[in-house]
Amino acid sequence: MQERLQKILAKAGLSSRRSAETMITEGRVMVNGKVVTELGTKSDPEADKITLDGKPVSVSKKRVYLILNKPAGYVTTLSDPGGRPVVTGLIKDIKERVFPVGRLDFNTEGLLLLTNDGEWANTLAHPSHEVEKEYLVKIRGDLSPDKIAQLSEGIKLEDGWTAPAKVDIIRVLEKNVWFTIVIHEGRYRQVRRMCEAIGLPLVKLKRIRYGKILLGELKAGEYRVLDPSEAKLLAGTDANVTRTDERKPFKKQRTVPGKR
Ligand code: URA
Repeated sequence: MQERLQKILAKAGLSSRRSAETMITEGRVMVNGKVVTELGTKSDPEADKITLDGKPVSVSKKRVYLILNKPAGYVTTLSDPGGRPVVTGLIKDIKERVFPVGRLDFNTEGLLLLTNDGEWANTLAHPSHEVEKEYLVKIRGDLSPDKIAQLSEGIKLEDGWTAPAKVDIIRVLEKNVWFTIVIHEGRYRQVRRMCEAIGLPLVKLKRIRYGKILLGELKAGEYRVLDPSEAKLLAGTDANVTRTDERKPFKKQRTVPGKR
């Protein structure tokens, strides 16, 4: 069956559809020995010989979905020109070639999904899907009610106002505050930029939930295979947690008397 090349590359688990487009325009894809750079080009993966960087592209049937607790100090790109460690290097016993769904910054920790299913990754990453992402944030200093209101109502960043977010204080210590923030946009360095914009010195950032999937007990660097029902949940229309009683990852705690 004839399909667009970017879809074939995504199905083959080589990338999301969007980065497949870049691979094509960069001239890295050949069909039957000819470089194809035009994005609308269709091909039949059963009949044509498709290669990426000279290596054959095969549309394998087995789809793999993983959840990883990304440690700080890893990049979520597939390679790093500066030689920094890549998250896929942490995946040891999975023979399918998986790639991260979306990104987390080098110093951000926590829940990262990986897959070889480009279509699934595409669905999740599409802004219209509005999957909730919940982050645990540690800042230096205090978090005033005014700043909570700003984070919750929206903050003007270079690329426009952020959508309303849900903020909950988890723990107030003498020198730090821990809070959670739930956003559904996936803008570049969004939480860090939101904090920067209102003068909150961010010390630690960890993603603890993606839609209904919780990071849970996975230790830094550990991963597990999502079962198909979890993967399906995420891509469905009911991807987000709405009932907070479904999860109890943190106990709210006030450590400093008199502080919020
Ligand atoms: N927001 C950020 O600032 N960084 C991330 O890695 C994820 C969300």
